[in-house]
Amino acid sequence: MSEILKLIQERQSARVPFDKSHPIAKEDLLKILEAAKWTPTAHNMQNFDVIVVDDAAVLEKIGCIKSRISEEFLRENYEQLSFSREELLKKKTGILGAMFPPEWVDPAKISEAVKNAQPMPISQSIRGSPTLLFVVYNSRKRAPASHGDILGFMSLGCLMENMWLAAQSLGIGLQILSAFSARPVEAEIKKLLCVPEYMKIAYTCRLGYPTSASKYLRVRRDIEDFAYHNKFGNKGI
Ligand SMILES: Cc1cc2nc3c(=O)[nH]c(=O)nc-3n(C[C@H](O)[C@H](O)[C@H](O)COP(=O)(O)O)c2cc1C
Repeated sequence: MSEILKLIQERQSARVPFDKSHPIAKEDLLKILEAAKWTPTAHNMQNFDVIVVDDAAVLEKIGCIKSRISEEFLRENYEQLSFSREELLKKKTGILGAMFPPEWVDPAKISEAVKNAQPMPISQSIRGSPTLLFVVYNSRKRAPASHGDILGFMSLGCLMENMWLAAQSLGIGLQILSAFSARPVEAEIKKLLCVPEYMKIAYTCRLGYPTSASKYLRVRRDIEDFAYHNKFGNKGI
């Protein structure tokens, strides 16, 4: 038990460079995919497929796709930010504003920043990763009677955690890149990877062996902040 808790606590977003010359070994990839295989999904739908991309020429082509930052993202991102380590430690949720360019974290400058922003090649997000994983799902299906297919999406979250913990246990860094699910980027990636029109990208991960330790401040609420006993709001398990 202590081992699984330690793995869960140590899993983190690897926003660090990866060793470009060291693609994920096939046996490790298969272990991550074995973890994917045993994901719990609503009605055991197994509503996912995983595309592993480690062909340098394909990665290069993907990296040339351009993405543009949206005002919606910047405004909602702002809501999650803290502007000092002390503020983040006190809030216990969200992330540090210092992770983003200054013009993204000042509400007065966001509209201007969006207007002036040039489309950027997504190679800047991939950062030379030797392997990308694309998790796709069939948008025409849903878990039975699940409005908005929330049960289907929860299942995809279970898949992500299974693969992430497996990667962590193998010393492999993983970072989710949500920007790749944004419409125009998604459409181009789907074309490149021959993904059928009715399939959607749930999420993309960059994977690799980190060349440095991730050193950012990670915070979480305390158990008494979110767990209640017998009725909502009743603290103290
Ligand atoms: C659905 C989902 C989407 C995410 N998208 C991104 C992303 O686009 N870029 C990124 O760096 N981290 C992304 N993250 C990572 C979260 O920011 C991260 O899990 C959270 O800040 C907690 O940090 P930790 O993973 O190091 O514990 C995403 C996480 C989830 C679950």
